[in-house]
Amino acid sequence: MAHGPSLFEVAERVEGDTLERTCSDLGDCKRCKLHRHRNKIVFGAGSPTAELMFIGEGPGHDEDLQGLPFVGRAGQLLTQMIEAMGLSRGEVYIANVVKCRPPENRAPEKDEVASCMPFLLRQIASIQPKAIVCLGSVAMQALLNTNKAISRLRGEWIDFRGARLMPTYHPAYLLRNPHAKPEVWTDLKKVMAYLGLKPPIRGASRS
Ligand code: URA
Repeated sequence: MAHGPSLFEVAERVEGDTLERTCSDLGDCKRCKLHRHRNKIVFGAGSPTAELMFIGEGPGHDEDLQGLPFVGRAGQLLTQMIEAMGLSRGEVYIANVVKCRPPENRAPEKDEVASCMPFLLRQIASIQPKAIVCLGSVAMQALLNTNKAISRLRGEWIDFRGARLMPTYHPAYLLRNPHAKPEVWTDLKKVMAYLGLKPPIRGASRS
């Protein structure tokens, strides 16, 4: 008879938890059907003590091959956004709602999100970021358990598990709709103000 996941496996908070322990509990995960087509699990990357976390939807083609989040075209734009905030990718933490690539880049399904969410919540609980930037509607709806549109909630702080969460548009959306970039920059500036970050001075090294 098949056994369901143990209580420990679905725990959202584990005493003395670390990212290493969460990763090891995730193991060679086969909890949902996404494992069948994946190359690599994309656990997340960045600083374990980051004040700022970015959470996307799920790995795409490049992420699935490399095992790292946001390394494709949308990832390059995310890197630019992070650097425009005066930070580097190594200073923040980047993760996704699901850790395996959905086939054909479809949105993750409810059961897949449900299987993966405890691990993301454990990552958030260990890192204890001050702010979380939620990238796009899939991540926002999954984390906040809402059906509201990203266009309705973006730009507004929402208290989330001891952090402040800022929903904004996904960089892949910005690649298709560059006219929305100023709205995202407005949202990121709120995050910068909250974290006391100043944008880098461009060309400073040349003067
Ligand atoms: N899009 C996402 O939501 N996450 C990634 O890691 C890459 C693209």
